[in-house]
Formats: sequence, structure tokens, C-alpha cells
Amino acid sequence: MTHKVTLIPGDGIGPEVAEAARKVVDASGVKIEWDVVEAGAAVIEEYGTPLPEYVLESIKKNKIALKGPVTTPVGKGFKSVNVTLRQTLNLYANIRPTKTFEGVKSRYDNIDLVIFRENTEDLYAGVEHMVSEDIAESIKIISKKASDRIVRAAFEYAREHNRKKVTAVHKANIMKLSDGLFLKCARSIAEEYKDIEFEDVIVDAMSMKLVIEPEKYDVLVMPNLYGDILSDMAAGLVGGLGMLPGANIGEDGAVFESAHGSAPDIAGQNKANPSAIILSAVMMLQHIGESDAAEKIEKALAKVIKEGKHVTVDLGGTAGTSEFTEAIINEIKNS
Ligand code: NAI
Repeated sequence: MTHKVTLIPGDGIGPEVAEAARKVVDASGVKIEWDVVEAGAAVIEEYGTPLPEYVLESIKKNKIALKGPVTTPVGKGFKSVNVTLRQTLNLYANIRPTKTFEGVKSRYDNIDLVIFRENTEDLYAGVEHMVSEDIAESIKIISKKASDRIVRAAFEYAREHNRKKVTAVHKANIMKLSDGLFLKCARSIAEEYKDIEFEDVIVDAMSMKLVIEPEKYDVLVMPNLYGDILSDMAAGLVGGLGMLPGANIGEDGAVFESAHGSAPDIAGQNKANPSAIILSAVMMLQHIGESDAAEKIEKALAKVIKEGKHVTVDLGGTAGTSEFTEAIINEIKNS
């Protein structure tokens, strides 16, 4: 079966790493018809927006997109393409698998966590105002609908990927109404998944436990703000952003992209590590039911990293993006 996938190369290192991911996916044997669409600063002059309608239409039609990073101007210019995409397509679940790869320098060697971050509400709903000149107020919004669907997404993922435990993270001891509602929803959804262990942990304790005994956790699910903070913390546990993939999943489609940004400091120099977007493509293949191809790619990447002969500078090697990519493709072909 041929899958249709929207490919947004992005800018900065985006085009280099997106091309690497496309080549690796094609080498796995899976049949993909790529619909390449441009977004970001480069298209503003022609279309008057960094996110032209044809990009959204392509994702809505194909339901699946692989995306390179897109630069967001700081303090001026257009609104983040990434945030607009998430809001327009209602991509409510942000999923970040955080795993140790042998050969990547990090403090731990046994981490395999998946963080489910609610992507649409909480303190990120943007409801804030000045009460007076000296007092500002941000409103935390938690709804049953959004809590139910993120917790359900976490349990469905756990079931599909043979994960054993889901941990809900909250601060319901203090925010008894908002986080209280999130916890109530989590407990109630957990009742539907008796085959998977469920527990809840308060966010401050969770932060400590993730540093002391990260190997005890499996799938974590939480409201937006805690998810933002803990997923970066988890990135630190495995050696930084370079290896971190991500998925934004919603009712109108799913967009797979690295956690890192467009890295303008190394753009166009064949220096970028393509691992994060390749791992995002692995998530995409799992999502569309191509698990064999996904497994083949992840194993090949892990082997090249472990050997360390063809890896980029950030992983301690001397190879360029293209040499790293070719080494992965050779591993796939030899597997
Ligand atoms: P960044 O992640 O682009 O870069 C931080 C540091 O990590 C830089 O030194 C960079 O060279 C390095 N780095 C990042 N990815 C790398 C890779 N694959 N291989 C090797 N080194 C890598 O973060 P920064 O500089 O804060 O953001 C740059 C731009 O990216 C901003 O405009 C930001 O808004 C945008 N951004 C876009 C995202 C997206 O499209 N999803 C996500 C995060 C940031």
C-alpha cells in the first residue's frame, strides 16, 4: 500500500534533516508518496503568510505530515508556524519518547519513557490580563474533554506498544479543582484499561523521582505546563535535544517533528544530526501501521550511533549529515 505523506522541509537545518529522513524512510522499503510543501519565512513574500492554506489542506487531506523545524522570529514578525499548526489542526496530544541510545553521552543508560503532554489548554490557553498595573493574572483552564482524550491517548499508546504502566502527573493537592478534575478524569479512564497499571504522582515528587529512579517510569501523562517542563528535563536525562523525536496528534491529522529547532548556527553546513527527525519518522511509520519498517530504521540508527564511526559532531564524531544518513541506509540495506 502506498501512503500519502505531507513533507514540510522547514528552514535552517530543516531541509537537510528532512531530506535525510525521507531517504532513510524510502530505503526501508515502505511505499510513500511525499507531498512536499513549503512553510516559514521563505514563502511569506509570495503568499503573505508563513503557513499558506495549501500546507493545511495537504495535511488535512493526507492526515499525516513529517515536518522539519521552522524558525520563529523572537519578539516581532509572524506567529509561530508550529503553534498555529497545532491550534488549527487541533493537535491535542504532544508525544515525546525519551530513550537512551548506547553511544550517546548521558548520565543514565537505561531510560525508556514516553511523555504525553496535553497540547491545547492549561496555562497555555492564553487567557491572561493585567488586574492592575502591578498585578497580572493567567487563568488555568482544564476541561474534562481535553483531559479524557489525552489520558485515553496515553493508555491506547501503552496498549499498542506493550507498555506496562501509565503515570498521571498533577498537583491536585493544591489545585483541587483544575488538577483535581484532570486526576478524576485520569482515574476514571484508567478503569477502562485494567490490563495496564495506573498510578498518579504529584509533579514536584515526580521531578525528583525522574532524576533518582527514571527506569521505574514508562508512559507519563500530564497537563500542558508540567509536560513542557518535564519533557525537557527528560531530554536532559538522555543527553539533550539532538536525539528527541516528537509527534503532535489530533483529530484532523498528525504532525511528526523533532523536539529541536532550526539551529541557524549550523544551517546549510552539513553538520546537523538527523537522528531526531528520523526517529520522528519512525513514530510516523508506527502510527500508519508500518511497524516492520519502523523497527528496521530504529535498529539501523542505533547501530550506527553505537559504532560511532559515522556520527555527527554533537555525538562526538566527525561525519556530516549526509555521511551519517548513508551509514544508516547501508545498515538498513544489510539488515
Ligand atoms: P535549536 O534547537 O534550533 O538549537 C539549539 C542548539 O542545539 C544550537 O546550538 C544548535 O546548533 C543545536 N542543535 C539543534 N538541533 C541540532 C541537530 N539536529 N544537530 C546538531 N545540533 C543541533 O534552538 P534555538 O536556537 O532556540 O531555536 C532556533 C529556532 O528554531 C527559533 O526560531 C525557534 O523558534 C525555532 N524552533 C522551532 C521548532 C519547531 O519548528 N518545532 C522547535 C523549537 C525551536
